[in-house]
Amino acid sequence: MEIAPGAHHFPGYFELERQRAIVGACRALVDGAVPAYVPTVRGGGKMHVRMLCLGRHWNGQTYRYEPTRSDFDQLPVPALPASFRALAAEIAGAAGMVLAADLCILNYYDMDGRMGLHQDKDESEPSLAAGLPVVSISLGDTARFLFGGLKRRDPVEMILLTSGDAFVFGGPARLRFHGVTKILPGTAPAELGLSGRFNLTFRQYEI
Ligand code: SIN
Ligand code: MN
Repeated sequence: MEIAPGAHHFPGYFELERQRAIVGACRALVDGAVPAYVPTVRGGGKMHVRMLCLGRHWNGQTYRYEPTRSDFDQLPVPALPASFRALAAEIAGAAGMVLAADLCILNYYDMDGRMGLHQDKDESEPSLAAGLPVVSISLGDTARFLFGGLKRRDPVEMILLTSGDAFVFGGPARLRFHGVTKILPGTAPAELGLSGRFNLTFRQYEI
């Protein structure tokens, strides 16, 4: 479903077994040797998610990508698993786009998780100029996702992202503002055994 030029929502893209497999991989990663953490951003505020970057690390102080987590524990960023990269390519293809993702930001939202309205604009200039998409996968509890325009004050649409949904924004939609206002606790499929929500956003920095 194309909700705006370049923006596609695929409700229920992943059936339960695939969701379960991705959730298992996410769990292992966020509690792995290089674990997810709560970033402190410029200005000193803490984010309301637990974040783990794969492939390239997004530094919450500089808003730049780097190979080691220099804003946190100096550890090298874990690799982006090939299976994850394949998921991103598959979903981009379903939206008629091409993505050779080289990084993923994996966020865990607990019941108080949220993310203010922002643009994804820290990827390379050529990547942004080409409109290479952001591919998003949602698992677990439903999120109230806001999708706005190219200016912060533009009207926003509220979209419920439920477990198994995919969302793609590229081309003319690549720099649209978006955010998460609320997680709806207890809405995850029971079979996942997950309270809270995982969201993966794939991007391609290098072009
Ligand atoms: C993000 O904008 O980075 C995350 C969006 C989401 O959690 O759906
Ligand atoms: Mn974003």
